Amino acid sequence: MQKEIYEQPKAIQATLEGRINNGRLLEECFGADAGEILDGIDAIKIVACGTSFHAGLIAKHGFGDLANVLCSVEVASEFRYRRHVVSKNTLFLTLSQSGETADTLAALRIAKKLGYKHTFAICNVQESSLVLESDLVLMTRGGPEIGVASTKSFTTQLVALLLLIIAVGRRHGMAESTEKMIVEQLDSLPERIEQVLLLDEPIAELAKQFADKHHALFLGRGPQYPVAKEGALKLKEISYIHAEAYPAGELKHGPLALVDAKMPVIAVAPNDKLLEKLKANLEEVSARGGHLIVFSGIDAGFIEDEHLQVIHVGPTEQAVSPIIYSVPLQLLA
Ligand code: M6R
Repeated sequence: MQKEIYEQPKAIQATLEGRINNGRLLEECFGADAGEILDGIDAIKIVACGTSFHAGLIAKHGFGDLANVLCSVEVASEFRYRRHVVSKNTLFLTLSQSGETADTLAALRIAKKLGYKHTFAICNVQESSLVLESDLVLMTRGGPEIGVASTKSFTTQLVALLLLIIAVGRRHGMAESTEKMIVEQLDSLPERIEQVLLLDEPIAELAKQFADKHHALFLGRGPQYPVAKEGALKLKEISYIHAEAYPAGELKHGPLALVDAKMPVIAVAPNDKLLEKLKANLEEVSARGGHLIVFSGIDAGFIEDEHLQVIHVGPTEQAVSPIIYSVPLQLLA
């Protein structure tokens, strides 16, 4: 897993190779028929499992905020066992590292029977069933992922999703300047991730505090909430520490009751439009004597004290910040 965490700059570079140029997306990367198919799309349905599902939850924000299209996301094991109403012109999008996850594959087959007009897979294994059975495919080029815990497949999925967000956005009024901004952010991502990997040592120090803990709470808002969910999943899976993630605004509706000095609370807190709201939620945690560990930018203005530790991830641009903030949480796990 650690090897694969460190491979992320290269894996992202490879996933972008030949797909962006001069601040623009090269749409040919989706295949010859893609243009016509994407022209007719006005909504996205994402189905996936586990970490891939979390990538979908993050992309939902991008499809809505940047591409102006409706996007819903569902775990495959739920999708496949319920009745559906299919709205026409919806693209059925599956996300999978392996392309062989039984629930995701079953969901794709059901979607075709249900009459979804087109299917699209973002996948890491070229010869997988999911790739073979989907109309359109965008390969992540992470290379083999041997670790059970997904790391580079997650961040490369998020990169591939941003490319698709641009393609769909172009058809729904995305300004050229927005496309350029996203592409520039993607272009600098490998270097940015290299910087984040330098946090390994302070995070290893922080991890020592976790060794005797039995529970942890992860908080985020907006697209950082699924980042928090992914951080909690990694911690459970790798450290066998029970962890849950909440959208920070939900704290006061119940889970705050659990917070005390024994449960570390990890916040994913880049300097974005929800920062002030998040800070207000974190004050609720402090008021209950909770110990806060905040992953944030130096520009976010958190001041350390005995109950609040800050790991500075650096200022980040909006579109790629979920990718950047995922990496320190992988290191922590
Ligand atoms: O191969 P997939 O992406 O379809 O796998 C889905 C999940 O089993 C997977 O993402 C799982 O949650 C992660 N390996 C956990 O780290």
